[in-house]
Amino acid sequence: MGASSPRSPEPARPSAPPAPSCCGGALLAVLVLLALPAAWGQCSAPRFPFAKPTNLTDKSEFPVGTFLKYECRPGFYGKPFSIICQNNSVWIGTENRCRRKTCKTPSDPMNGMVQITNLQFGSQIQYSCNEGYRLIGSSSAICIISENTVTWDNEGPLCEIISCGLPPTIANGDFFSINREYFPYSTVVTYRCNPGNRGRKFELVGEPSIYCTSNDDQVGIWSGPLPQCIIPNKCMPPEVENGIMVSDNRSLFSLNEIVELKCQPDFVMKGPTRVRCQALNKWEPELPSCSRVCQPPPEILRGKHTSSDKDKFSPGQEVFYSCEPGYDLTGAASLRCTPQGDWSPTVPRCTVKSCSDFLDQLPNGRVLIPLNLQLGTKVSFVCDEGFQLKGSSASYCVLDGMKSLWNSSVPVCEQIFCPSPPTILNGRHMGTPLEDFPYGKEISYTCDSHPDRGMTFELIGESTIRCTSDHQGKGIWSGLAPRCELSVLAGPQVALLIGKFYEGFAEEF
Ligand SMILES: *[C@@H]1O[C@H](CO)[C@@H](O)[C@H](O)[C@H]1NC(C)=O
Ligand SMILES: *[C@@H]1O[C@H](CO)[C@@H](O)[C@H](O)[C@H]1NC(C)=O
Ligand SMILES: *[C@@H]1O[C@H](CO)[C@@H](O)[C@H](O)[C@H]1NC(C)=O
Ligand SMILES: *[C@@H]1O[C@H](CO)[C@@H](O)[C@H](O)[C@H]1NC(C)=O
Repeated sequence: MGASSPRSPEPARPSAPPAPSCCGGALLAVLVLLALPAAWGQCSAPRFPFAKPTNLTDKSEFPVGTFLKYECRPGFYGKPFSIICQNNSVWIGTENRCRRKTCKTPSDPMNGMVQITNLQFGSQIQYSCNEGYRLIGSSSAICIISENTVTWDNEGPLCEIISCGLPPTIANGDFFSINREYFPYSTVVTYRCNPGNRGRKFELVGEPSIYCTSNDDQVGIWSGPLPQCIIPNKCMPPEVENGIMVSDNRSLFSLNEIVELKCQPDFVMKGPTRVRCQALNKWEPELPSCSRVCQPPPEILRGKHTSSDKDKFSPGQEVFYSCEPGYDLTGAASLRCTPQGDWSPTVPRCTVKSCSDFLDQLPNGRVLIPLNLQLGTKVSFVCDEGFQLKGSSASYCVLDGMKSLWNSSVPVCEQIFCPSPPTILNGRHMGTPLEDFPYGKEISYTCDSHPDRGMTFELIGESTIRCTSDHQGKGIWSGLAPRCELSVLAGPQVALLIGKFYEGFAEEF
């Protein structure tokens, strides 16, 4: 370093002015002081999760003996403290002097409770509601930093009583309860049968009471099953939604009586058409159901579905979609008629088949790939200048059976070479005999001179030709080679030389 140079000449030049000698020495001293601790070891900047430094510095290494002051981070409390870099590169005084602050003990929500494992900064508490109450708000809270102190991030939830709607009605009976409008969780209602008339007395079959409960601690529902009010050994008319009685409909049916049912137009029946009255108002076998028929499923562009000749479909029936060649089915391949008379899931679409992404590269060339790779797409291959394409110049996305694929492989780009440059009479080109002449290569010509024979040749035409290519990619020279013509005639050998010149010319043609 430059620090040593001012010192060495110092003794040799005692007459030198004092100022530079003083400053050179001081600079050296400073450098030595800075360098010494590095040799003995340094401490690297410490980081504590609980405390932050109060010294403002962007240094990452500190010399032995450095004092650094720390204070507890927000969320922690404790006295400020210092750490010292020891001569073994270890800080002393790094033990945790800060303790986590604690959030205040939260109170139980009304009709609920809070579960606490820890109140310290960063910990989480859980809230829950008593049975029959639904939790509104957040079910947990975290002790967080807020304005230099700690607090819960939310105030805790509300617990709201779950209640049920009106209890279901039953034929020939009614329910009784303390309140007929408000049915909070666990309310019990009890059914009683209406008094009969003309000697027909209704009897209650089943459990008379139901209660308000919940499956999800959110919504109130009535427990079941509902009781029935019946006349012993008689059946009520069978109730079939969208059903019609084929036999007479009466208000009561006797034991073993058989009724016949059908469905309304545009509905189809599932189950038996004839049922028999059994004891305790039961029909056997189980009553049928009527489901709406489906209209023919939607037609799709470029595709078709099975059973296209039918105009009505019963619930559960399935149709299958397929696409024309060259198209892919997107979505579900089959749809089912639902009991509501709809088709499910949604109708698929036929989309033009696409080829997989074209991933191959073309060394010494480029592959031109369009954005969409659907059938018919053309990928082109272009060679860099000086290279000739061997193979197909394009690949197309074509259909092969059911698959779409690229119909030709990547070509190669071969370097273009020119033939050896033409030789000329009385001159030469600068190329060597075994040399390659790649595209772009330039060759210069010079004419021979024979001063001894008193002859000079003049170059006619361009002295340089360049290897280029024709439209088929074949290497050719950019132009004709120049000629060397005799320019100075001197002395008696002229006639002879002219003779020689024409001799050579005749040789060439
Ligand atoms: C950090 O600050 C304390 C007091 O403010 C001081 O004693 C100590 O030398 C400082 N340390 C550094 C490295 O600046
Ligand atoms: C480091 O300090 C201790 C005393 O604190 C001393 O005994 C020891 O020799 C020192 N080591 C070096 C390398 O200076
Ligand atoms: C039979 O008549 C009763 C009323 O008398 C009616 O509630 C019920 O729906 C009818 N049943 C059918 C299948 O039409
Ligand atoms: C690829 O497909 C295109 C377009 O259908 C066609 O012109 C070309 O000849 C095909 N190439 C090969 C190698 O089959």
